[in-house]
Amino acid sequence: MRLLVTGGCGFIGSNFIRMVLRDRPDAVVCNMDNLSYAGNLANLAHVERDYPGRYFFERADIADADQARGVMRRHRIEALVNFAAESHVDRSIEDASPFVRSNVLGVVVLLRAALEAKLGRFVQVSTDEVYGSLPLEAQYAAFTEDSPLTPNSPYSASKASADLFCRAFFKTHGLPLVITRCSNNYGPCQFPEKLIPFMFFRATRDEPLPVYGDGLNVRDWIHVEDHCRGVLMALEKGRAGAVYNFGGGAQRSNLYVVREILKFCGKDESLIRPVKDRPGHDRRYAVDYSLAAAELGFSPGFGFEEGLRRTLAWYRENPDWVDGATSGSYLGDMRKRYGE
Ligand code: NAD
Ligand code: TYD
Repeated sequence: MRLLVTGGCGFIGSNFIRMVLRDRPDAVVCNMDNLSYAGNLANLAHVERDYPGRYFFERADIADADQARGVMRRHRIEALVNFAAESHVDRSIEDASPFVRSNVLGVVVLLRAALEAKLGRFVQVSTDEVYGSLPLEAQYAAFTEDSPLTPNSPYSASKASADLFCRAFFKTHGLPLVITRCSNNYGPCQFPEKLIPFMFFRATRDEPLPVYGDGLNVRDWIHVEDHCRGVLMALEKGRAGAVYNFGGGAQRSNLYVVREILKFCGKDESLIRPVKDRPGHDRRYAVDYSLAAAELGFSPGFGFEEGLRRTLAWYRENPDWVDGATSGSYLGDMRKRYGE
């Protein structure tokens, strides 16, 4: 299989590429990424050397039709998995335009190019955030694939828009595509603006940990390897036109997660700093992945506490990655955000 992975220099895409190269010896992977602030070539260090002739990198923008077509043609692409996106809710609140460009226009460009190139499979990596928010009370059922799309942030609105274009390209043009909607990921190589690496790095430097609102918002955490296994199953076995939810079966409040991180670091809870709530902050996500279990054989393998411990240990053991990821524009952005 000649596979195009877009956004492969980001957190999940890079973990996915490593998994495919390791577990599918016949696969050739082209990674197309425009190296936005979140794209980090260090996430795929040594991959070209470890898998000679099986991995190629193209710096290109998914919203540029000529570039997208050119990459598909040059690499004789047969299937595509689209991870490329602006992915951070807080940034989408500050400015939604890059989200419209990459997450909506970029997907439409890829869909058209995929049709022209007659790809055999297109996987759109979406998110559970398109379903909006659940109340905290457990009697409200987890999101299923039939839950209405009621996004609350500009980020989730852009992802929901992309999902609707994907549906339309399946219905109208018969493009053989699958949409996956996963819950919050954690694991190695996550850009340190997201909750877990962000709090870990601040805790290690004895910097205050800004917890939004009352800290009781709940996320359904999944280890990135479990998500990547799900995406690979969707690519290989998914029904054309289907949507599959993936979740980690690990609903935890933000305060709980932050306290676990502090425990791991051997730091005191006095570092926790409640701050103004995020506007439109979704209260709870919870994902019912029974369709993916029945049709694809998906189930999450990691328990949250063990997965978190291993993830934090990875960050601790990879200081060079951490220094690279937290230098440059990242530090400037964070200082601005917290008025430091
Ligand atoms: P990330 O921000 O770490 O990486 C995104 C990557 O896409 C970066 O390498 C960036 O350079 C690239 N990119 C952005 N715009 C591009 C463009 N126009 N052209 C080419 N490349 C571009 O994101 P992530 O956390 O790895 O998320 C990957 C995908 O998974 C996203 O589509 C996201 O919506 C989805 N998702 C993420 C989570 C999560 O918890 N992180 C959960 C569910 C779904
Ligand atoms: P985040 O990692 O941004 O993912 P998402 O918004 O896509 O779920 O945030 C996870 C949760 O952590 C979310 O409820 C917001 C909260 N959060 C904080 O309380 N403080 C922070 O500094 C960050 C980055 C997130």
